[in-house]
Amino acid sequence: MTTKEKIEHLRKEKARLIQGGGEKRIQKQHESGKLTARERIGLLCEPETFQELFLFAKHRGTAFGMAGQDLPADGVVTGVGTVNGRQIYVASQDFTVSGGSVGEVHANKICQTLDMALKSGVPVVIFNDSGGARIQEGIDALNGYAKIFYRNVLLSGVVPQISIISGPCAGGAAYSPALTDFIIMVRGIGKLFITGPQVIKQVTGEVISDEELGGAMAQQKESGVVHFIAESDQHAIEICQKLLSFLPSNNIEDPPEYGDGEIVFAEDPGLDKIIPDSPREAYDIKDVILRVIDNGDFLEVQEHFATNAIIGFARVNTRSVGIIANQPMSFAGAIDIDASDKIARFVRFCNIFNIPLVTFVDVPGFMPGVQQEYGGIIRHGAKILFAYSAATVPKITIILRKAYGGAYIAMCGKELGADRVVAWPTAEVAVMGAEGAVPIVYRDDIKKAEDPQAARKAFIQQYQDQFANPYLGAARNLIDDVIEPRHTRRYLSLALESLRTKRELRPQKKHGNIPL
Ligand code: HXC
Repeated sequence: MTTKEKIEHLRKEKARLIQGGGEKRIQKQHESGKLTARERIGLLCEPETFQELFLFAKHRGTAFGMAGQDLPADGVVTGVGTVNGRQIYVASQDFTVSGGSVGEVHANKICQTLDMALKSGVPVVIFNDSGGARIQEGIDALNGYAKIFYRNVLLSGVVPQISIISGPCAGGAAYSPALTDFIIMVRGIGKLFITGPQVIKQVTGEVISDEELGGAMAQQKESGVVHFIAESDQHAIEICQKLLSFLPSNNIEDPPEYGDGEIVFAEDPGLDKIIPDSPREAYDIKDVILRVIDNGDFLEVQEHFATNAIIGFARVNTRSVGIIANQPMSFAGAIDIDASDKIARFVRFCNIFNIPLVTFVDVPGFMPGVQQEYGGIIRHGAKILFAYSAATVPKITIILRKAYGGAYIAMCGKELGADRVVAWPTAEVAVMGAEGAVPIVYRDDIKKAEDPQAARKAFIQQYQDQFANPYLGAARNLIDDVIEPRHTRRYLSLALESLRTKRELRPQKKHGNIPL
């Protein structure tokens, strides 16, 4: 071949490989509401920035008629491009090629991509759209999964890893996304379960649809596996881009800053009106969050899971922060097993990636109940204590109203290493609420009283006057200051600025033993 012919051959070969499984299968992909692997990357990365790696990869399978079978790029597109001007490694499974099934070479491509992301300290995005282990490749396929899992763990804590579930991802395959930091899933399209409805029917007799079992809502609301629900591939990619904007590229960088850096000194009188006069009345904690962050721009994580706790990313004075809050509108904000897991994992993520923690407290306590005890609320609740205590990023705690008992401590009280604890004048910091405390402390006095009801009421008032305020905590330096709600944003901005250079060293060890 002449040089010209060789170049022409290369062009043709690339054009053929880029077609993946061919027109018919691409059409089927579109008809089922999905973009192709390459279209997804095209939307995720900035134009012209994507450099594909391993386009010419070929499987080595011979069994079950695999010999000589043409599987372009072996069913996964891998490479590196930019999002918001920052490098991102991507692996995007191509369902049009053998159903995106994972064989030896397919897995190796993903592994090599992960290896390079690790070396360069660059985040990874993996699109999952696959029929699972390539049946014809047997143990080589399984081994491929094991190699991916191993690397997911190796990268964990070094670079952010984001999984997008934009097709099937069932059986053991679901464990790769589970090992990454965030899962974004397309509603009605993504399927995520260990055993599908048919197997479940055979084994347990339960009848359930695909979507009810492994759809995006089920795997967020019921199991807490999914972090973000998207309405389409495009939407999933938008969420991914936004999420990346809050994160540094790796654990030794700080998150990028967006905005002009001007501290907002203006008061917000609206905040003074949020806490109801009655302690029994609920309010929406998101009204507080949205008022103290830049542009009211809050990326909530796991919106439908454990709604009694709110977590998510925002910026305060241009800097990324992780927000953690109790939600009085759901179970009065009490912390249960799911809320514990939700908060603890988020705190650990933020700590890894140098994202300061801002905690809003209005918590009546840990959730009582036999199921909570049998389910291990002790073990799960301890995760929050562990995660906050272990976190060395700046930690700012704002007590809005109730802060009772162990839950007061768990929501990043001063002695868990909070750098700042500030309270609104509406704060009530005590071992328990007046209704619970009075019958214990004043039992005999109430019994002896002429009018026990009136006595109980008077003791409740007395307890509230004495304990249900922030000033006892402030007197012990457990609360740094009591501020008017309207000054919260300014307080937060200045506190974060003052903590920019915070460094906290801990004893060297392999890792602590978080109660899992
Ligand atoms: C090889 C596969 C495949 C697989 C799909 N294909 N899954 N090839 N291994 N695991 C191929 C099909 O043969 C077909 O090839 C093409 O992909 C598209 O598949 P369809 O069935 O036509 O698509 P659809 O109707 O959309 O159904 C998608 C599906 C179904 C639900 C994913 O294909 C399916 O049930 N596949 C098998 C799933 C499975 O049991 N996987 C193994 C799980 S165990 P052609 O050439 O016709 O286009 C596992 C263990 C992992 O993954 C363990 C890790 C620890």
